[in-house]
Formats: sequence, structure tokens, C-alpha cells
Amino acid sequence: MDKVKKGSLVIVGTGISVAGQLTLASKSYIENADIVFMGIMNKVGEHFVKKLNPNCVSLDDLYQQGKSRAVTYSQMTDRIVQSVIEGFNVCVAFYGHAGVFVTPSHEAIRRVRELGLEAKMLPGVSAEDCLIADLGLDPSRFGCQSYEATQFLFRDYRIDPYMTQIIWQIGLAGEASLSVLDANQNQAGLAMLTDILREHYPEDHELIIYEAATLPLCEPKIQKVLLGELINTKTTLISTLVVPSLGLPAYRQDRLAKLGLTKQQVIEYRTPSVN
Ligand SMILES: C[S@@+](CC[C@H](N)C(=O)[O-])C[C@H]1O[C@@H](n2cnc3c(N)ncnc32)[C@H](O)[C@@H]1O
Repeated sequence: MDKVKKGSLVIVGTGISVAGQLTLASKSYIENADIVFMGIMNKVGEHFVKKLNPNCVSLDDLYQQGKSRAVTYSQMTDRIVQSVIEGFNVCVAFYGHAGVFVTPSHEAIRRVRELGLEAKMLPGVSAEDCLIADLGLDPSRFGCQSYEATQFLFRDYRIDPYMTQIIWQIGLAGEASLSVLDANQNQAGLAMLTDILREHYPEDHELIIYEAATLPLCEPKIQKVLLGELINTKTTLISTLVVPSLGLPAYRQDRLAKLGLTKQQVIEYRTPSVN
């Protein structure tokens, strides 16, 4: 008797810039899948993936203005999991890194594993990876805090102004219903965000509204605005806000002393003179 074929799930990210940022491993999983679901939000990206595997189904039809994205994500997850249950080797391609600010990817993996079937995610190139490259921001220098804009407004997060702040989805800042699909309704959110940032930064602190290039040969958009101007700044659904650090915090000499060190020693270790 034939064994019933067991389905499996691999979730990959296509990167932010179509065609150039897909890893070789992700490409291979797309090529060899029985079916590929796409959450790419970009027709050129979809075209590229379809050329790798013609058996592709877009998930973007599930988005609708006025419909909660929570419902959309749940329907995406159902579609993906159902296909695995039917015995297919399923690959799902989301843009960027499939695990960064993507609810259905994590949820589908959780549910497929719960069924005793194989599911995994491969790393991809996220907007944050592009930002680090384009803005020359090494997270090791100041440290980094990263949040979703609306959650940042709604919850009691603590900003450390000496760290770089990365605030995602500012185009939808303050949009509680999850049912808006355009970035023109965030004025109240940007106003509140400005007030919160004013508690930590001067009015003339320079912020960056960043958009990584989504097509090869295109340049990223790097718009510098003063904190006081943020409220009047146009944002899009792919804008990410970067609030640069105020600088490095002071050394904790009490901690250094406990380790038998002085501030001077640490500075010398970190900046040796090279003859
Ligand atoms: C739902 S999240 C998806 C993130 C994506 N999975 C990734 O790996 O970057 C959407 C948010 O990611 C950020 N984002 C997406 N595309 C971007 C781009 N081209 N440039 C800058 N930020 C981007 C924006 O903050 C946007 O609101």
C-alpha cells in the first residue's frame, strides 16, 4: 500500500530588493516546492518568483481596505497550513525577512509543527539589514532599540536615547483597527510620536525617514527631518523611522572598578596606538 505523502513547509524571505537579495538556499526551496505562496506586495517580485516556479499563488488578494489585517493574516495561515495538510511540499515567500514583522509566517510554522509535520524558516534580508548598509549604522556602536510604531505609542516602552531607535510601520502609526491600508491617516500618531520623542531629544535632533530600494539599480530614499518637522512629513507604507543616538553614554566607573579596571585602561584597549 502506498504511504500517504506527508506535506512540509519552508518559509523564505525574498529580500527587499527584488532579484538581488534572495539567498541561494531560498531560491532552491522555491524552485523545488510543489506550490509556492507569495506575500511579496510587489508585482515585479511576484514575476521573479513565478519564473522560478510557475506553480505560485499570491496571498495579496486577502488584503482589503476596511478589513482587519488580523483576519487577513489568519486566512493566510489557514491557506498555507491547509496545503501542507493536503500533502504538498509548500514554500511561502514573503518579502524581506519572512520572520520580521510577519505574523502568518510564525503562526503557520507553529501550527504545522503542532501537526507533527516539518516546518522551518530561512533567514532573509530585512529592511533593517538594508538600513544598516545604506545608513552605515552598526548596531554594536550605540546599541539599538526596534519597535512597531503603534505598539510603541500604545505601550509603556522605555526609550534609551543613547541607543539608535528604529521605529517600523510609521505610515500606520496610531492605527488601532488594523483595517487601514494607506499611509495618509497617521497624523495623530505622528503627533503623539513627536511628543514622546521630545521627552528625550532636542527639537532640532535630526531623524531619518528611510526607504530601502525595492528594485535593483534604484537608490534608497533617505530623508532627513528635524524632530519638530516629523508631524508634517509624508510617510509611506514602507517608511521606517530612524532616530539616531545622542552619543555614547558615560562609563560606569563603579562597574569598571569592580573588574579592577579604570576608564583610561578601557579607552586604551579599545583604541590602541598602531606604530
Ligand atoms: C510588515 S513589515 C515587513 C518587514 C519585512 N518583513 C522585512 O523583513 O523588512 C512592514 C514594515 O517594514 C518596513 N519596510 C518594509 N519595506 C521597507 C523598505 N523598502 N524600506 C524601509 N523599510 C521598509 C517598514 O517599516 C514597513 O512599514
